Amino acid sequence: MQLRSLVTAALAAAPVAVSAAGQLGFAVGNTNTDGSCKKQSDFEADFKAIKSNTHSTLIRTYSSSDQFGNPCNTPSEVLPAAKSQGVQVLLGMWPDGGAYDKEKKPIQDADVEQYGDTLFGITVGSEGMYRGTYDAKSLIAWLGDMKSTFPNTKIGTADSWNCWNNGSMDSIITSGIDLVLANGFAYWQYQDIGNATKTYFDDMAQALAHVQEVSGSLDSIHFMNGETGWPGDGGSDAGAAKAGTQNEATYWKSAVCGLLDWGVDLFWFEAFDEPNKADAIGDNGQKASEKYWGSFDSSRKPKFDMKC
Ligand SMILES: *[C@@H]1O[C@H](CO)[C@@H](O)[C@H](O)[C@H]1NC(C)=O
Ligand SMILES: *[C@@H]1O[C@H](CO)[C@@H](O)[C@H](O)[C@H]1NC(C)=O
Repeated sequence: MQLRSLVTAALAAAPVAVSAAGQLGFAVGNTNTDGSCKKQSDFEADFKAIKSNTHSTLIRTYSSSDQFGNPCNTPSEVLPAAKSQGVQVLLGMWPDGGAYDKEKKPIQDADVEQYGDTLFGITVGSEGMYRGTYDAKSLIAWLGDMKSTFPNTKIGTADSWNCWNNGSMDSIITSGIDLVLANGFAYWQYQDIGNATKTYFDDMAQALAHVQEVSGSLDSIHFMNGETGWPGDGGSDAGAAKAGTQNEATYWKSAVCGLLDWGVDLFWFEAFDEPNKADAIGDNGQKASEKYWGSFDSSRKPKFDMKC
């Protein structure tokens, strides 16, 4: 409770100075629109587009493999590309469905710690607790194994803000984890664009306060918003949340620029449209398109002004 009021005071006092601004990152897929695995040159083209339209020099990936589990050896392609472009990578692995060892091997093969600061950290899993595809016990074991294999690297995991907030991930918060990525989508909470930023800030404030309370510290764990975003033209609606590039741009200016001003690091989901991506199953059990969430289209053209 004491920490919660400290958080509130800290947020209320947060200056809008550039020095205190959060770091903007982008979620980047690891396949091309024809379904092939991205190679170093594809990632380089991605990073050039991001760097020439934003001040971001940070990206995250999700998996060493493609969405069907075929090997892409993403670590060996994305890290050299990032190094050449001056971008940092939060490297993701996707342990769901017994794939932990298969996902870990390409990270070892790439000898990722040789890249120094280019490697921002490694995340094990994304929203697996929320989906129920693994449990806390497995996740803690994987996080520990990654930490002992890569002792000089920040290790963390990403999950939905409400799982970080409601006690179901407290054992992970206290497991010695370095990075907590809390995902928050006002869109998936079926919010009208007019209430979206308020909903997003509320989600992030609750998750951050809970992580601070449980860890007993304001900053022992690096808290980031692991994903936020809004679908552009061609996307599906979710209740009062209407897809469209106009709304996507509004959400960027208000929610993304706003949270960065408060000093919280965040990843925009996602950099580029993925017209080849399989549909996602929404909270209501219905299929929803995840193809048009990019702030750039699939040919890397910006959809709107991403400056804050
Ligand atoms: C926490 O939230 C998740 C996602 O909504 C839910 O599945 C889970 O049952 C909740 N756990 C608790 C302890 O409330
Ligand atoms: C708007 O967002 C706030 C914060 O999450 C929430 O309490 C409120 O119910 C939302 N309003 C509507 C109309 O959904």
